[in-house]
Amino acid sequence: MKILGIESSCDETAVSIVEDGRRILSNPVASQINLHALYGGVVPEIASRAHVEAIAGLTEQALKDAGCQRDEIDAVAVTYAPGLIGALLTGLSFAKSLAFALKIDLIPVHHIKGHIAANYLAFPDLKPPFLALAISGGNTMIIDVEDYTRMKILGATRDDAAGECFDKAARVLGLPYPGGKPMDDLAKQSRGGVYKLPLARVTDAPLDMSFSGLKTAVVNIAHHAAQTGEDLDRAALARDFTRAVSDMLVPRAIQAAKIAGRDMLCAAGGVAANSIIREDLRRECEENKIQLYLPPLNLCGDNGAMIAAQGYYEYLAGHTAGMDLNAFATRDLA
Ligand code: KG4
Repeated sequence: MKILGIESSCDETAVSIVEDGRRILSNPVASQINLHALYGGVVPEIASRAHVEAIAGLTEQALKDAGCQRDEIDAVAVTYAPGLIGALLTGLSFAKSLAFALKIDLIPVHHIKGHIAANYLAFPDLKPPFLALAISGGNTMIIDVEDYTRMKILGATRDDAAGECFDKAARVLGLPYPGGKPMDDLAKQSRGGVYKLPLARVTDAPLDMSFSGLKTAVVNIAHHAAQTGEDLDRAALARDFTRAVSDMLVPRAIQAAKIAGRDMLCAAGGVAANSIIREDLRRECEENKIQLYLPPLNLCGDNGAMIAAQGYYEYLAGHTAGMDLNAFATRDLA
C-alpha cells in the first residue's frame, strides 16, 4: 500500500511516499529556515504562506522521485495536530483536496506519533510495545507505545520543550536559528564543568520535566557577563547546558522504561539528533540492558515519511477521516 504523507506543522513543508509503512520511496523536504532566521524564530504567518507556495510543487516532486503516478497512491496521511494552526491548515486543506480528487482515504496523523514512527522506517523489524522519548521543538514527552496507535504519556515537560530551550539558549549565545545543531557543534569544543545550572524536579511527578528555569539561568549568565564585561566561555556554557538537558531527559527515560516494563527505547524528534544526548542514551541503555533505537539524523527532524509511516498503521486500525477533519494546535495523543 502506497501512502502519501504530508507534514506542515511548523517550518518544514514535507511530502513523502512510503510503501506499507516501512519503505521510503521519496521524501523531499522544503525547509523555511532562511525565511525565519532573520527573526530568530518561526513567524507563523510567514510559515503558512511558505507552505502554500511549496506544497503543490513538493507533491509533484515526491511523485516524481518515487516514480509514481497519482493514481498509484492509495491514501493520503496528513499531520492534523499539534502545531501552528495556520501551518497545519495549509497541509490539511491540500491533503483533503488530494484525497477528494483521487477518491482515496484521508488519514489524520498526530505529529508526535509521526516522530515515533520514523523509527519504523529506520528499523524494519521494530514492533511495539516499546518506550519512546519524543524530544522536538514543540514537545517533550516520555511515552509508552503499547501498540502502533495506542500510546500513554508517562512524563512530559511542564513548560518549555527541550528543542525550544536549545533554540533560546543558542540565541543568547549568538548562534543562528534553529540553535540545536550549532549548540551541539559548540558544546563539542569544551569539556564543560564551568557553569552550575539548575535541574528542576516536579514534586510527586518524577517523570515530568521542566526546562524554563534552565533556559532562564543560561540567559542570566550570558547577560551578566555582557553587563560586567566578564569573559563568557561560550563553549563551556553550551556543554554544561546540554549536559543539564540530557540529565533531565535520559535518567527519566530509563526510569520510565523500568516502570513500564519495557526493554526497548526509541528516541524521536529533532533534539534526538543531539550527539551528547545520543551518547548518554547509548551508555545508559547499555548499562540497563535496554535495546536502544536511534533514528538517523535525517529522520529525527520533521519529514513526510514519518507521517506516511504512522498513517499506514492508523489506516490498518481503521482511523480514517471525512472531509470535515479539522486541525488542532494542541491535541492529546489518544
Ligand atoms: O522535530 P523537529 O524538527 O520539529 C518539531 O517537531 O518541533 O525539532 C526541531 C528542534 C529545534 O528546536 C532544533 O533546534 C532541535 O530540534 N535540534 C537539535 C539538534 N538538531 C535539531 N537540538 C539539539 N541538538 C541537535 N543536534
